[in-house]
Amino acid sequence: MDIDKVFQDQLIKITQEAAISVYPHLGKNNKIIADEAATNSMRTNLNKMNIRGNIVIGEGEMDKAPMLYIGEKVGTKKGPEFDIAVDPLEGTNFVAKNLPGAISVIAISNKNDLFNAPESYMQKISYPKNIDHNAIDLDFSLKKNLSNLADSKNKKFESLRICVLDRPRHQKIIDEAKSLKIEVKLISDGDVSGALLVTEEKHNIDLFLGTGGGPEGVLAASALDTYGCGFQGRFIFDTDELKKRANNMGINDFDKKYKLDEIVKGDSLFCATGITKGDLVNGVKFRDNKMVVNTLITHKSQNMKKIITGEIDIKK
Ligand code: FBP
Repeated sequence: MDIDKVFQDQLIKITQEAAISVYPHLGKNNKIIADEAATNSMRTNLNKMNIRGNIVIGEGEMDKAPMLYIGEKVGTKKGPEFDIAVDPLEGTNFVAKNLPGAISVIAISNKNDLFNAPESYMQKISYPKNIDHNAIDLDFSLKKNLSNLADSKNKKFESLRICVLDRPRHQKIIDEAKSLKIEVKLISDGDVSGALLVTEEKHNIDLFLGTGGGPEGVLAASALDTYGCGFQGRFIFDTDELKKRANNMGINDFDKKYKLDEIVKGDSLFCATGITKGDLVNGVKFRDNKMVVNTLITHKSQNMKKIITGEIDIKK
């Protein structure tokens, strides 16, 4: 079943307001307070929606997160049943230091259509549309993925560009790219945006890969699906505790590589509002007593992928 278009505006408002709630905390070197502000705002607004929402990706497990924890029910308990993935503040370091790239993100699907996993790391890879899904694989070497991409895109191998989170764990990928003479865009944080750089030519990224947050992977998968792009993810359940939690959620194969349509099934709606200016969207700005905010919205059944600019009166 398609998600009603009426939820587009409601979700946009939710990430817009969460982004604005973070604004006073920019550059204050306190990522916890900034995250709390965004989470509070998102939760308050989700609870006003006429939905029966289940948080499947949230601020953490129930015993660790007081708000928007995995399994929390949100909404007025009237209306459709949705699975909800949230990252009220993606890029807490960016906000603490007032650096580009912070966004507020949400994705919804019909009940049971978003992957439900405990908070863990995930190996992930995303690539542009119109690429044969057998051509790119998490387990292929970088060289093999890139040669397949170059063939599919009819581009020169050396002209390809990849995006990777700047972490010591990615040194092997970075070194291999260097030896292949492939340009790497290193990002210091924010791999929801990183994974989405393959969606449009203007970003000039052909492949995003590496290990980052699992929740961020599920969120990015929703938008990538609407763009027709490719994605694979493998959760890293490397402790007994994580394995136990995963098991309780019905996961038995801890090494499984998930395809996009196993992470996001059916219709989904995704919104990301810029907090600070980034590659995908602009950050919050002041204009004539109003706050101007930029939101990327994607809605699969409507084939909608666009950036909406909103103006919100500053409350006295
Ligand atoms: P936060 O906003 O929760 O700080 O996450 C930022 C982020 O860069 C994510 O985009 C990414 O998935 C994750 O952290 C990577 O984790 P780590 O910093 O532990 O490598």
